[in-house]
Amino acid sequence: MKLLLPGASGLLGVNFAQEMMSEHEIIGLDRGKLINAPFKVLRRERLDASVIDSILDSESPEAVVNCAALANLEDCEENPELAKQINVDLPRVLAQACKSRNISFVHVSTDAVFDGKKDGAYNEADAPNPVGVYSRTKLEGEQAVLAEYAQAVVARVNFYGWSLGGRRSLAEFFVNSLSAGENVNGFTDVIFCPMWVNHTARILVNMLERGLSGVYHVVGAQPMSKHQFGVDVARRFGLPEGRIAPKSVEESNLRAKRSHNLWLSTRKLSADLGEELPSFSAGLDGFYAQFRQGYPQKIRSYQQK
Ligand SMILES: NC(=O)c1ccc[n+]([C@@H]2O[C@H](COP(=O)([O-])OP(=O)(O)OC[C@H]3O[C@@H](n4cnc5c(N)ncnc54)[C@H](OP(=O)(O)O)[C@@H]3O)[C@@H](O)[C@H]2O)c1
Repeated sequence: MKLLLPGASGLLGVNFAQEMMSEHEIIGLDRGKLINAPFKVLRRERLDASVIDSILDSESPEAVVNCAALANLEDCEENPELAKQINVDLPRVLAQACKSRNISFVHVSTDAVFDGKKDGAYNEADAPNPVGVYSRTKLEGEQAVLAEYAQAVVARVNFYGWSLGGRRSLAEFFVNSLSAGENVNGFTDVIFCPMWVNHTARILVNMLERGLSGVYHVVGAQPMSKHQFGVDVARRFGLPEGRIAPKSVEESNLRAKRSHNLWLSTRKLSADLGEELPSFSAGLDGFYAQFRQGYPQKIRSYQQK
């Protein structure tokens, strides 16, 4: 398949491209960070409707996987207008452009559309209730995409992996901080379902190949607290888990509100794919194997210094 990836420099984008490039033709869209990537990259400073139209017409991808977002919660609180442009307006334009050309479209959304007040796992039929600018704009992005293009996939994700800047995912935070001998906090009262980003990439392609559409929860099958995640990462890397202090997110000075329960059921996804999702330990093993093989340094070398 020929796949176009807006947001190719991001945590998902770069790992998706890296994971799938030997099996699929990847064309990344980037604003100028990627210089040495081993996949094709088109540099565009701005993604408006005319730029997107001309790229789709000249490249003729079979599918677009939208990895672009303003994904930092604090940045969204500080700049809600920018958050709307990237998280709502851009996905809408992409959906329109894909629909008119009959190109498959996967829009990547977030587990954080829920307020976390449910006792138990959220499924796709549960009503979202965003708690901040990031999650509100992401929900509006989902709605805009499906209003334009009912056959699109909206994938609510949560993942970890190695990023270009080395600081984009929670797993990197634990590895970097503990390796530097620092003490860190791990929230015991935020439950989530982390998935290794390489697994996320494979599942998204699998969904495309099976022609799925609509909203899906594409997260890890095992819920855990952020503290427990840190402990598991530390154990896998042989780092001192005792340096991770169990804390409440309410004690943090983070500006953007966080939901306490982001346990999302993946039953619909497993049923429609006809397979079990990869286990948490398989993902963590993959993340650790990448570390041993110098993968973090390799992907960092793709970026402009
Ligand atoms: N990380 C997670 O665990 C997580 C959890 C839930 C949902 N998600 C969702 O997953 C998706 C990918 O997230 P991520 O963690 O990979 O995010 P990320 O690392 O912050 O990457 C975001 C990407 O979007 C690009 N971008 C930002 N503003 C843009 C603009 N104005 N025009 C064009 N491109 C722009 C960035 O380009 P630059 O590098 O040039 O800034 C970057 O390539 C997002 O939809 C996010 O909401 C992620």
